[in-house]
Amino acid sequence: MEKIMISEMPKHVGEEVRIGAWLANKRSSGKIAFLQLRDGSGFVQGVVVKADVPEDVFAAAKAIHQETSMYVTGTVVEDERSAFGYELQVSGIEVIGESDNYPITPKEHGTEFLMDHRHLWLRSKKQHAIMKVRNEIIRATYEFFNGRGFTKIDPPILTGSSPEGTSELFHTKYFDEDAYLSQSGQLYMEAAAMALGKVFSFGPTFRAEKSKTRRHLIEFWMIEPEMAFTEHAESLEVQEQYVEHIVGSVLNNCKLELGILGRDLSKLEQVKAPFPRITYDEAIEFLHKEGFDDIQWGDDFGAPHETAIAEHYDKPVFIVNYPTAIKPFYMQPHPDRDDVVLCADLIAPEGYGEIIGGSERIHDFELMKQRIEEHHLDPEAYAWYLELSKQGPVPHSGFGLGLERTVAWISGAEHVRESIPFPRLLNRLYP
Ligand code: 4AD
Ligand code: MG
Repeated sequence: MEKIMISEMPKHVGEEVRIGAWLANKRSSGKIAFLQLRDGSGFVQGVVVKADVPEDVFAAAKAIHQETSMYVTGTVVEDERSAFGYELQVSGIEVIGESDNYPITPKEHGTEFLMDHRHLWLRSKKQHAIMKVRNEIIRATYEFFNGRGFTKIDPPILTGSSPEGTSELFHTKYFDEDAYLSQSGQLYMEAAAMALGKVFSFGPTFRAEKSKTRRHLIEFWMIEPEMAFTEHAESLEVQEQYVEHIVGSVLNNCKLELGILGRDLSKLEQVKAPFPRITYDEAIEFLHKEGFDDIQWGDDFGAPHETAIAEHYDKPVFIVNYPTAIKPFYMQPHPDRDDVVLCADLIAPEGYGEIIGGSERIHDFELMKQRIEEHHLDPEAYAWYLELSKQGPVPHSGFGLGLERTVAWISGAEHVRESIPFPRLLNRLYP
């Protein structure tokens, strides 16, 4: 008998098959047992009818507990009532391992309890769906960039430099030297873009940020494309096409998961390029009109500001040209104004906040040298980076998309802690 995955059942209707599975949930009476089975690839209902199976099989169905592992044999049948569309008419159950008072039951549990049991919580239907959405976004990311001539480049994680400011660095010893966990691979991606033209990275980044919000992780994964001979306006076009592509891919390939998550699809279906662009100046003016008296030109936006701006649109919105003073050292000045830079943050709808930060980079040697000095960065640590603007410098632009914020937005999860398998938060390194 063929051993298959639950996700393969549509190809095996009418056949008797064998699956490895855990019991997710169960309902039973004297004559029939309904087993919610999961195998990692999906969830299916197994129906055990007392009159149709040997006595020991029905006894096993009655005895198993939530998360008991087993091999189950049965016939795949179509079932219009289930979201999956199929069920298994069980003919045999072979228990592999018992479960011992599985702590996460179908009742409500508090968030801290679930976070303490994250190693088990991942097995639940909603968490499973979010991980599937995450995987689809990663798959679609490779598809998008590989399809457009980008080369995947892996920047180092142990570094001596800090693109996004020195206040949020994780420090470690590198033998006798000081090192930091990467907060962004950007500077290395710029070097790589000068070698390979268009590059993208996908890897973990670290921020020792004492923020405890639904948008902040200490360790998060970032996709960082970088493009030579590319001005900022062209980079914005790549960004909106990329975001349209990942949202479209999830809509096409994760229908079951979005259903489980109860996601409002009409909101996602509107995410089509082009996205609106407003300047930082316009954003400040808009906020003042909306009654936000707390913010002044030159301030960075907080979550309530971003949410108010995003609520005005049904698509993600670019806020362009932020003040030079609140952005990192490497950003290209606006051609007509000294006080703003050629950059943009992409703000997701529905209160999910900034999902992309990007900019054109300085490629003038003197200006870059001056900025490194102004920001009190160690000239030795940045010597290699500065050298890039001496060796055939070209206009170049890039951006970083935060994977977890994007997963949270697309899957409708209320907090980024659910969009990464094992979140690192301000007060959490366990499990
Ligand atoms: O805006 P950020 O800091 O930009 C950079 O790091 C640039 N060097 C990227 C580049 O141009 N190559 O971060 C980029 C994105 C943010 O828009 C956000 O989505 C995500 O990374 N991000 C976080 N996600 C979760 N937790 C945090 N603490 C995050 N900090 C940034
Ligand atoms: Mg940012």
